[in-house]
Amino acid sequence: MQIFMDSANVKAIRDAVEHGLIDGVTTNPSLIAKEGGDFRGVIEQICRIVPGPVSVEVVGTTSEQMMTEGREIAKIADNVVVKIPMLKEGLRAVRELNQEGIRVNVTLIFSAAQALLAAKAGATYVSPFVGRLDDIAHVGMDIIRDIVAIYENYGLPAQVLAASIRHPVHFVEAALAGAHVVTIPPSVLEQLVKHPLTDIGLERFLADWKKVPQGIFGPNR
Ligand code: E4P
Repeated sequence: MQIFMDSANVKAIRDAVEHGLIDGVTTNPSLIAKEGGDFRGVIEQICRIVPGPVSVEVVGTTSEQMMTEGREIAKIADNVVVKIPMLKEGLRAVRELNQEGIRVNVTLIFSAAQALLAAKAGATYVSPFVGRLDDIAHVGMDIIRDIVAIYENYGLPAQVLAASIRHPVHFVEAALAGAHVVTIPPSVLEQLVKHPLTDIGLERFLADWKKVPQGIFGPNR
């Protein structure tokens, strides 16, 4: 399973890349607005830092607007993936952009039916929003399982990108469900690394080590 960071925060992205923790990035208009600054400049910076795919969303709502924006976004860098919302107009844009060789991530997916249509239109990634389904009392992870099974049934090449991930249990469940990619905010990435027993164990090892007179690098080291 690939791990993407769901953020437009350059500092957090750089840190995760330097630690070898992420394979790509997803952004959305809300995440970009949160960071402020010039949109194109931020995206260019992120694309330079990240070796893998960086999803950038269009804001037009007609096919023509989405295609025009998508073509412009695709020119920013080779690793850009154009994010298109799951609308009827959006599916037309997905088909056209795909035929032009532009990779598309279909976002705001809330049902397996939508995911099937997006894959048939030529999406490279589909992004079902797990947390937002949980918020309205649906088990969001169920659609991840369904979409993975449907794509396998028909050999569809689209990748399931589990999005709106809110905590480490979502992350593990997405992996168990067979999601190809999971995108997580920086806070969840920090939570995944940490375990209280790791910290307690290390503290004890280091305290005991002080009792050893001669270490590898000299006294007490
Ligand atoms: C996906 O690409 C979206 O940016 C994201 O996962 C939305 O998550 P949220 O529901 O926490 O805003």
